[in-house]
Amino acid sequence: MGKQGKHKMRKLLPLIRTSSSDTHPGGRSALTCLYRCGNACFHEAPNTSANEYVGDVIAGAVSRRSVMQAAAVVTVAAAAGSATVAAAPQAHAATDATAASYKPGNGKAARGLRFTPVAPNTADQVTVPDGYAQNVVVRWGEPILRGAPAFDPDNQSAAAQAGQFGYNNDYLTLLPLGHGKQLLVANHEYTDEVLMFRGYDAANPTREQVEIAWAAHGLSAVVVEESRKTGKLTVVPRHPLNRRVTATTEFRLTGPAAGSDLLKTSADPTGTKVLGTLNNCSGGTTPWGTSLHGEENFNQYFANSSRATDKRYGIGTGATERKWERFDKRFDVAQEPNEVHRFGYVVEFDPYDPASTPRKHTAIGRFKHEGATIRLTGDGRPVVYSGDDERFDYFYKFVSSKRMKRGTGRAVREHNLSLLDEGTLYVAKLTGDSPAIEIDGTGKLPSDGEFDGSGEWIPLATATAEGAVSHVDGMSADEVFVFTRLAGDKVGATKMDRPEDIEPNPNTGKVYVALTNNTNRGVGSNAPADEANPRNANKHGQILELTERWNRPESTKFAWLLFLVAGDPNDPATYFAGFPKDRVSPISCPDNVAFDPHGNLWISTDGAQLGHHDGLFGVATKGDRRGELKQFLTMPIGAETCGPIVQDRRVLVAVQHPGEISGATVENPASVWPDGPGRIVRPAVVAVWRKDGDDIGV
Ligand code: FEO
Ligand code: CA
Ligand code: CA
Ligand code: CA
Repeated sequence: MGKQGKHKMRKLLPLIRTSSSDTHPGGRSALTCLYRCGNACFHEAPNTSANEYVGDVIAGAVSRRSVMQAAAVVTVAAAAGSATVAAAPQAHAATDATAASYKPGNGKAARGLRFTPVAPNTADQVTVPDGYAQNVVVRWGEPILRGAPAFDPDNQSAAAQAGQFGYNNDYLTLLPLGHGKQLLVANHEYTDEVLMFRGYDAANPTREQVEIAWAAHGLSAVVVEESRKTGKLTVVPRHPLNRRVTATTEFRLTGPAAGSDLLKTSADPTGTKVLGTLNNCSGGTTPWGTSLHGEENFNQYFANSSRATDKRYGIGTGATERKWERFDKRFDVAQEPNEVHRFGYVVEFDPYDPASTPRKHTAIGRFKHEGATIRLTGDGRPVVYSGDDERFDYFYKFVSSKRMKRGTGRAVREHNLSLLDEGTLYVAKLTGDSPAIEIDGTGKLPSDGEFDGSGEWIPLATATAEGAVSHVDGMSADEVFVFTRLAGDKVGATKMDRPEDIEPNPNTGKVYVALTNNTNRGVGSNAPADEANPRNANKHGQILELTERWNRPESTKFAWLLFLVAGDPNDPATYFAGFPKDRVSPISCPDNVAFDPHGNLWISTDGAQLGHHDGLFGVATKGDRRGELKQFLTMPIGAETCGPIVQDRRVLVAVQHPGEISGATVENPASVWPDGPGRIVRPAVVAVWRKDGDDIGV
């Protein structure tokens, strides 16, 4: 379990209770809204463009969500075999899980999904299936660099944090090292100051607290050692490849907009050097052995937007919640109007070279990138998929014009690190194939039995070695790459229900888009339901499956269908690829996705709205079990499930923002995960494996 610092035992304090009255419009805890998205759900969705949606829909019927909570009440103890393998003494008994519980069907589940599903619950722990075990691989504050001190939350410093694992781990990737070791890279999306600092005064943060928060953002690379007998992973502290990237690490802006006037600041007249990365949410792993990280809700770190050039990114007019602008003027848009243009990109990090300068790729556009995932064209060119996580925003792909080279030499590496700088950026437009009148906003399937249709990728701009060309009337290429949302508006891209992770299935080539929810769909003057976003006041989200024409990643046409329409399976407005709904687990708010070695889709949730905690689910994407969805694990109180990785022998998840419940503080915590009563709650990475040493789900 790595080297833990000595913790001072504290008096056991009462736990804050979770209640539905704590939740904000998007369904999350008020604390999550505040620190993660800058209260995005309280603002109007920033897409006010008059841009078309799928079909010309008759908006009408209201949500029927109220009738679907009538499912049986089950307890974890009574439910189908859940092993409560806790990392620590537990605070909350799981007694109030509501929703349908999975009933196994006849025959065997798809290979990779043969486990007894965990029942929905509200336990303050990671609950895994019977026959599985877990360990905490690495926690916030664990020293990973040489010289970093043991974690001591009451004597934390920015210098200590810069050598320790960061806060709020989100995307995870494991890269091979050989000799029983792997290189783990984690994103640290944001900080929860009230859960990090005893007696935190939000109106008057100290310089040290702000600098600790800067150091707790960014990325960590840490070498982990595999157990010979199990899927357990253990940190190798002080390994020379261990590295921290923070909100003050130097980055290079690359690609077509690098050096443009839009990216120049008083500190960087070249428009090519940026300090730090912020709000890295999900990401991807490249076939040439680097990691990609999406800068998501970057707007919330910038104050005083009166001089902001654009109004499409939700930058606030006043002070920020964290008040960083008091300590570094680059976060004050009134003083440094272009600094905010240097965030909102896909970041590329080379964890094999600890001296490398990470890059921000302007060619993939600037928006609230959830993540970025890659597949290669037949001739070896990378195609990157990326969603813009905002209500009524778009999803994109970038097709490189350069081919990946095989090999490990320095020149090959340098070539591959330039692949994402030249190519064409596209945005998705979807058209439904059912009559608009059949899409009534309730989620009722149209008469052809499927929410489906066709789509096209509309080119926005092309970057070449000689320069860049805009394909959008009235916008220069620089403007397209820096104000990409405006380019999507102008070409009539489809307004989606918050595009989160997008990932191609390496076994089939089909591409899956997690659309997490959109409670504003069809509400007031907002765009009504359409065939791809078929529920008004959509609380639970859906997953879209794209088939690119001829299964070629570079195609500009695709077919699409809704693979899952999430929610309680007892709710008639749900759909599980046609699989019998009495034989699936309930799921709400899909977010990060991943594939196991068998081609099953694994889905983590964020902000599930069915009365139980978030979790991780596996679902078959092909064969006669297609749509059979099973819950693999559940999260502690207040946590979202992130970064799933499913290898043959282990499942890895990031437990992000445990204890993030409105009103919780260090002194008055809502969760005691992972170390039990008296210890500070800590985001952490968990590995899960089969006790008998066999592969996951076989
Ligand atoms: Fe950081 Fe879209 O979740
Ligand atoms: Ca249809
Ligand atoms: Ca997320
Ligand atoms: Ca995600």
